[in-house]
Amino acid sequence: MESLQGRAYLVTGGGTGIGAATALRLAEQGASVAVLGRRPEPLAKVVAAIEELGGTALACPADVRDPVAVESCVDAVVERFGRIDGLVSNAAGNFVTPAERLSPNGWRAVVDIVLNGSWNCTSAVARRLIEAERPGAIVSVVATYAWTGHPGTVHSAAAKAGVVAMSKTLAAEWARYGIRLNCIAPGPTSTDGAGAALWASDSDKARVLASVPSGRFATPDEVGDLAAFLLSDRAAYVTGTVLTADGGQSLGQQIYGPPITA
Ligand code: HXC
Repeated sequence: MESLQGRAYLVTGGGTGIGAATALRLAEQGASVAVLGRRPEPLAKVVAAIEELGGTALACPADVRDPVAVESCVDAVVERFGRIDGLVSNAAGNFVTPAERLSPNGWRAVVDIVLNGSWNCTSAVARRLIEAERPGAIVSVVATYAWTGHPGTVHSAAAKAGVVAMSKTLAAEWARYGIRLNCIAPGPTSTDGAGAALWASDSDKARVLASVPSGRFATPDEVGDLAAFLLSDRAAYVTGTVLTADGGQSLGQQIYGPPITA
């Protein structure tokens, strides 16, 4: 199904993991896709993969923390594709640390990437949509610990909670322009980045898997599919929501009674 035919989207963190899979999925559904990230090499690979599919793609090497660079990237998207229809704000930075050992710079780096970076990209894309009097959609990738909290992630959880609040606020404010904003909260997803940062050893991996009632990690393609759905007109009446896709990880774990096992 080519539900995004003729449209153009920007995907941040689009060189690897969930961002790369999302970029490919949007291209498969007929969209032109620009991928933004700090490292040019992974971006070039994603552009080549999309072109191999017969799609159109553009690499924007930039840091989401730099509003001027983000603005230039959005300019380049409009120049190359003649339009922009929305954004998948996926770029993230994360490391697990006891909060009392987190340095001011560590806090700032993660909040800058996740919260300020999301705002930089969201506001740049939305301003372009408003100027062009064109409807659009923005999807931000967050995590369930934005509202449950989770030890070791204070910087990321606080920043992603900010992204959820930002999206809900703008969903209400910019509905009058036909701009929809939604979030996806994926559970643990099988990407190299998440694996290295969050489950580097076999025992860590087994512990994470045991926390997921569905018994497996998400695939990046599954998350990309949800982003494509939320961007498409099939979700035309969906705004200000968070779509949780975590295999049940954020649901309660059994505490009472004898353990229920297979
Ligand atoms: C403690 C650390 C640290 C660590 C960095 N810092 N890594 N502190 N433990 N493991 C501190 C540094 O010491 C420094 O503080 C400050 O953070 C900034 O570090 P830099 O490396 O100078 O910053 P920068 O190059 O901007 O890197 C940003 C980053 C980095 C966030 C620190 O990890 C990054 O860019 N990551 C991008 C990729 C990524 O994280 N992917 C995983 C996403 S997975 P001082 O005080 O020393 O100067 C994800 C999924 C979550 O988010 C959801 C799961 C369900």
